Amino acid sequence: MSRLLITGGAGYIGSHSAVVLSKIGHQVVLYDNLSNSSRAALENLDQIVGQHMPFVKGDVRNTELLASTLASHSIDAVIHFAGLKSVGESTDKPIDYYANNVQGAISLLQAMQMQRVTTLIFSSSATVYGNPQYLPLDETHPTSATNPYGRSKLQIEEMLRDVAKSDPNWRIACLRYFNPVGAHESSLIGESPTGIPNNLMPYIVQVAAGQQATLSIFGDDYPTPDGTGVRDYIHVMDVAEGHAAALDFLSKTNGWHAINLGTGNGRSVLEMVDAFEKASGRKVPYRVVARRVGDVAECYANPHKSDQLLGWKAARNLDDMCASSWQFHKATGLAVSQ
Ligand code: NAD
Ligand code: UFG
Repeated sequence: MSRLLITGGAGYIGSHSAVVLSKIGHQVVLYDNLSNSSRAALENLDQIVGQHMPFVKGDVRNTELLASTLASHSIDAVIHFAGLKSVGESTDKPIDYYANNVQGAISLLQAMQMQRVTTLIFSSSATVYGNPQYLPLDETHPTSATNPYGRSKLQIEEMLRDVAKSDPNWRIACLRYFNPVGAHESSLIGESPTGIPNNLMPYIVQVAAGQQATLSIFGDDYPTPDGTGVRDYIHVMDVAEGHAAALDFLSKTNGWHAINLGTGNGRSVLEMVDAFEKASGRKVPYRVVARRVGDVAECYANPHKSDQLLGWKAARNLDDMCASSWQFHKATGLAVSQ
């Protein structure tokens, strides 16, 4: 079992991954600047795993603090979730995105090099495929970026490939997540965006809870079966388990690897509304509005490589994703009667 540093460990995907990795016996140290998360999430994490997880409050651009954390906890491997993730915001604040994401990754690599820690899992995204040229998306699909967030992910992936080429000690996996949704079964951790949500699932949840009046569906004239956008929604616990499988894979293999974490199933916005209504017993009123700038019609994974290399497949279904999102939201006490 390894001693792991999880950057961004107080956030949505990082916290679920910390639970999975800790439960299978890894020793986990969390590192986060809490810019998009809270100490409450850390307390809930401790409750789920039944022990205290060491936490360091710090920015990934603080190379000295990272290096001393790696050394003092004798860290074997790093899982790097920390970063900013809103596509729209990245267009308004590109400098913040390159600073947090790209500069943050450089700082982490410097600290790892200093301490001779050479195993790294990086949170990448299906956004690196840009506008799909064919579907489903496999890892050999050409990469491109249409916004600063996507470009920051792509730049980091390319940087990591160079790093892995430079020295055979490096073991690096770039996990390209599709659309993570859902929450841990305890309902103690989940996705809780601040302000009005940008993403579909948290928005649907707020409509069902009566906090937003209607869902705006961004276009119903796409060349898809019902005209609405199609994505590969994947349960966050499946994504978390994908990290455990990737860590195991890296213990046997060196080099750089890009691997999709998706289900292979494309679901339309209307299918998501329908599934959520069934899982929650609530209505999700919607209206169709104009397409959102930058959206693609369809995006879903070819999950073959993760199955082959990692022996990992998404196991949870759409009902699990919707029901756990709803349970988590109810547990936060924000849902009102309909
Ligand atoms: P999140 O915002 O919930 O978690 C990110 C965490 O990183 C937060 O706790 C935040 O406080 C922390 N953080 C941000 N900048 C930091 C910095 N400079 N130093 C230290 N900590 C910092 O986001 P998430 O949904 O859990 O995403 C985790 C990673 O996965 C991100 O890199 C994101 O780009 C990537 N990703 C997410 C999705 C998605 O749909 N959620 C999809 C693809 C890829
Ligand atoms: N949608 C709506 N109404 C909303 C929100 C979304 O109709 O209020 C639609 C979108 O048009 C799209 C689908 O729901 O068809 C999914 O949209 P999301 O914003 O939930 O997800 P995206 O696929 O656009 O983007 C997400 C992350 C990106 C990441 C990408 C691939 O936000 O950071 O998945 O991993 F890059």
